[in-house]
Amino acid sequence: METEADIFFRKLPKVELHAHLNGSVSFETMEKLIARKPHLNIEHSMTAIRSGQRRTLDECFQVFKVIHQLIDSEEDILMVAKDVIHEFAADGVKYLELRSTPRNEPKTGLSKRIYIETVIEAIRQCKHEGADIDVRFLVAIDRRNGPEVAMETTKLAEDFMLSSDGVVVGLDLSGDPTVGNGKDLLLALQRARNCGLKLALHMSEIPSQKEESELLLDLPPDRIGHGTFLHPEVGGSDSLVDKVCKQNIPLELCLTSNVKGLTVPSYDEHHFQYWYKRRHPCVLCTDDKGVFCTDLSQEYQLAASTFGLSQEDVWALSQQAIQCSFAPEPVKQQLNQRWAKLRPEVLSLFPSCTVNQDFSRLHPKLPDSAPVQIGAISE
Ligand code: IMP
Ligand code: ZN
Repeated sequence: METEADIFFRKLPKVELHAHLNGSVSFETMEKLIARKPHLNIEHSMTAIRSGQRRTLDECFQVFKVIHQLIDSEEDILMVAKDVIHEFAADGVKYLELRSTPRNEPKTGLSKRIYIETVIEAIRQCKHEGADIDVRFLVAIDRRNGPEVAMETTKLAEDFMLSSDGVVVGLDLSGDPTVGNGKDLLLALQRARNCGLKLALHMSEIPSQKEESELLLDLPPDRIGHGTFLHPEVGGSDSLVDKVCKQNIPLELCLTSNVKGLTVPSYDEHHFQYWYKRRHPCVLCTDDKGVFCTDLSQEYQLAASTFGLSQEDVWALSQQAIQCSFAPEPVKQQLNQRWAKLRPEVLSLFPSCTVNQDFSRLHPKLPDSAPVQIGAISE
């Protein structure tokens, strides 16, 4: 049953800035995909990490491989992107930046260009259907594919930035952090920056990336994804923190993703605390709402319950995200006006509702033991 807090967090207008398309596919959409491709023998339990389960980062990347098998045609991408957008809208997200790695799938005739065009078409169709959400797109570079593919992706993103009517606004750097080196991708990222693409870079997701993070911070990026191991308390350094703070680079923080992916030991040890206390711009995001079985309302609720945030704090957090987005200034102004209009209504919904005390239901007990293997995922 929905509690007052559930309703408050859903009604809270929100901005989602870190959502990977293929990681955001819901249970319902996954069912449709599985039914389309029964010969793959993929079960839903292989595409999602449920409540109480955890996986190593490596196992999370195996999950994406399974999902990519299910989503390999223009038709699949269109359905998935539309469903994901409508789901974010239903969760109270008013502005969304989706990101995705364009793929060639020779079997179905999908090319990288068609991939991007299809995502843009999905965004256009959702708008036409009246979805109450402004959606932009970040083209993703998968770090495992090396410098040539990174440069090719940058050029594609550049083309679409110029021809997509403002839908393509930037570039993401993501993929398995244990593979490849950011140093080799600097040229592609610099080119992207110089041509006006915004940069949202996954950074310091694992402890061994100090040197790479120093280099990437000198670009500098416009936002940082995760930044889990930047600060000295977890083996990062003062120099990294100084660079982030001096350049005021916002952090995209994804609590459940980090806890379930085992890069953060528990919700209350999440680095949200470190940066939030310093009043550094932090944006709560989902990362992969399908894979990690969450949504943005739940991530706000988790942050509030874990770190004792009031309704006012939560409101400020969601509004601050507008400024961190890659939307053009007039769009940011419109969003701010929207927030101002909605504020009295949302904050007076349940004035005495404590939004920060529902620990037990939101913190499913996670096992301390080693995570189960992908092939034998249990319920
Ligand atoms: P796609 O780009 O839409 O196919 O979304 C899935 C892809 O996003 C994965 O294959 C990874 O490259 C990337 N991704 C999703 N989550 C993470 C993460 O937590 N860290 C790094 N990369 C990620
Ligand atoms: Zn991510």
